[in-house]
Order: sequence, then C-alpha cells, then structure tokens
Amino acid sequence: MIVGSIKENIELEKRVSVTPESAKSIIALGLKVYIEKGYALHLGIDDEEYKNVGVEIKNSSEILSSSNLITKVNCPSEDEISILKENSILVGMLNPSKNKNQIDKIIDKKIKSFSLELLPRITRAQSMDVLSSQSNLAGYRAVVDCVAEFEKAVPMMMTAAGTVPAAKVLVIGAGVAGLQAIATAKRLGAIVSATDVRAASKEQVESLGGKFLTVEQNEDMETAGGYAKEASDEYKNKQSEMMKEALKKNDIVICTALIPGKPAPRILTEDLVKLMKPGSIVYDLAAEQGGNSAFSEVGKVSLVNGIKIIGVKSLMNSLPLTASSLYAKNLFSFIRNLYSKENKDFNINLEDEIIEKSLIKKV
Ligand code: NAI
Repeated sequence: MIVGSIKENIELEKRVSVTPESAKSIIALGLKVYIEKGYALHLGIDDEEYKNVGVEIKNSSEILSSSNLITKVNCPSEDEISILKENSILVGMLNPSKNKNQIDKIIDKKIKSFSLELLPRITRAQSMDVLSSQSNLAGYRAVVDCVAEFEKAVPMMMTAAGTVPAAKVLVIGAGVAGLQAIATAKRLGAIVSATDVRAASKEQVESLGGKFLTVEQNEDMETAGGYAKEASDEYKNKQSEMMKEALKKNDIVICTALIPGKPAPRILTEDLVKLMKPGSIVYDLAAEQGGNSAFSEVGKVSLVNGIKIIGVKSLMNSLPLTASSLYAKNLFSFIRNLYSKENKDFNINLEDEIIEKSLIKKV
C-alpha cells in the first residue's frame, strides 16, 4: 500500500503534509511513502532527509496514479484529480464548501475523500485535530505580529528614568487561537483581558491569568459540540456597550471570534474601532471569514485615525515548518486510525465517528 504526496502550490501554501518524521511513522505501519523531487526544499528539508527514512522519490503523475492514499494540505486541482487512481483515498483540508467543482470530480471518480476540518471534536480525535493544531499556532503568531507592529514596549519597564506601564491586550473569542493568544501575551508581560459568548471559557481565561469580561446573559450560548451559537441582538448590544469601555483602555485587540459554518460575527463596528487610541492595533484573525472588525481587509494593514487594523491572510505561511510538523502528525494519526495492519489495507469503517464525520459525501 502506497501513501503519496505531491507539492502544494507554494506561491499560496508553504506547508507540506508529510515530513521526514511523519514519513518514518507511516513507513513503520508497513506502508510505502512516495513524494516528488524537491517536495519540501522551500522549507530547507532536502530529499535526502526523506530518503534516509525510506521515502521514495517519484514524479508527480506516478504518485497520483499509483498511490492508494494521497495526502495534501489543500484540495488538489482538477488536473491533479484527473490523474488520481480510481477508488483511492484522499486526505487533506479539502474545504468542500469552497471547492465544489473539485469535490464533485473526486466523488465521480469514486475516490474516498476525507476533510480533516470536519473531524468531530472528541477526545479520540484530538491527535488528528488540524483546526486545533493550526489555530494554536495562529494565536501565538497573532501576538508576535502585534508586538512587531506595536511601537511601544509590551512589558512594564521599571528604569532609573522612570516606569513605563505594561501594554493592555484584549482578546475577543477565547477558543483555541484566543487562549493561546492570551497565554503568549501574558508571557510577554502584557495585561490581558478576554471575552467570549461561552460562559465556560471564563474559567479557562482566568486560569491563564487573563481577566474575563462578562456580558450578562440568560441563554446558554454553547452548542453540544462545544462551539458558539450566534449571538442575539440583545447580546450584541450589551457586548457593544462593554466594548466601548474596553476599547478605550486597550492597546492591542486580537479578534478570533468564530461560529462554525457561518461568516465571522462582526463585533467591532467602525464607531467602536475609532474609540481606540492612535497607535493601537486591531489584529483580525477572522479576516478571511469576513472579519470580526470593521476596516479589516484580507492581507492588508489599514490605518484609521492612527489605529492599525490588520486583516490576516494565510497566517500559517509565517511559520510553515512548525505548522507542517503538527499538520503531518495530525495526518499520521488519521492514517493510523484508517489503516488495518492485520488486513494490510485501509478500512473505511463508517461506524467509526472519526471516519464517518470526516468523509465527504455527495450533497
Ligand atoms: P474556535 O472555534 O476555537 O474559537 C472561536 C471562539 O469565538 C469560540 O470560543 C466562540 O465561543 C467565540 N465566539 C463566537 N462568537 C463570538 C462573539 N460574538 N463574541 C465573542 N466570542 C465569540 O476557533 P479558532 O480555531 O480559535 O479560530 C479562531 C479564528 O481564527 C477563526 O476565524 C479561524 O478561521 C481563524 N484562523 C485563521 C488562520 C489564518 O491563517 N488566517 C489560522 C487559524 C485560525
């Protein structure tokens, strides 16, 4: 059985789905691994490192046409799909709602495709959870980027010349990215506060040393799956009132609010952003989903009244080595769960919630 991987379009995607470390683990399961020449050279990983663990270098069409399972970061192109072996398996972050044409083609060719963003958030799937591994990094990187853009020091500085107060950071949305942003900002000495619609997040924010800004509510805003429900108009008005005070005080605001399958909730209106001090920063991690903040444009830094609004794009390309390493580990865990060593074959057991939920079905 062969697991193959071809290069991504490296202009847009710097991550790879197989690292030498993950290849070694896949080979240890009894599988072969094929990659194409110069697969991860842009990350400083040469082919020798792959060959040393037993990976074979082939050309891309041979990989696509002979592999039983293809790994990718993003959905393959229609040309690539046309070469894929019938009845093979494809695993990646295939984003079915955005890549409808490709997905239709994949299904027509009877290729079983698994999209790792669809994995259920259950304990057994944690080692495969690409959204968590990548968002964790995003939360860290958000703080690093903000600090680089911020024209003041972040920690409190006590010097003979006087004392400089610590910067204040507000995190909106205390999910995976938000909690890592809180932890990173705390480590750098910032005074951190955070808010979230889910009451359960209060304890998590506080355990990281952040102050939780509560918006009073009667309704439980958390779904059974642990995600947020869409906020009511009443909630939005109360949240907006709370923001008015918070925004005047904070230097850096990191937006990470997300409702799965919906455009990002718009939390910071133009009027709210303009309440911030000149020199402040709004970092909108949700820009690609429509943005939590007014003035945020994907891949751009907008300047409004001296406030920088950063619309984040493809953040994982800023730390592709770490992102690839974690993504490849997630993928290996998924493959290990799919492969039966006993039968020496992949076993698509639809009674396994992990397999059933991540399998893309015809709509
Ligand atoms: P998550 O689902 O773990 O966290 C989102 C949080 O927002 C949840 O805790 C939810 O309760 C909260 N929330 C929802 N509506 C809210 C509201 N109206 N007010 C306050 N809080 C609200 O999501 P995760 O994985 O942390 O991702 C956060 C954002 O970062 C997403 O938009 C995601 O797409 C983006 N992201 C962007 C990346 C990039 O490369 N641009 C990379 C990774 C994540």
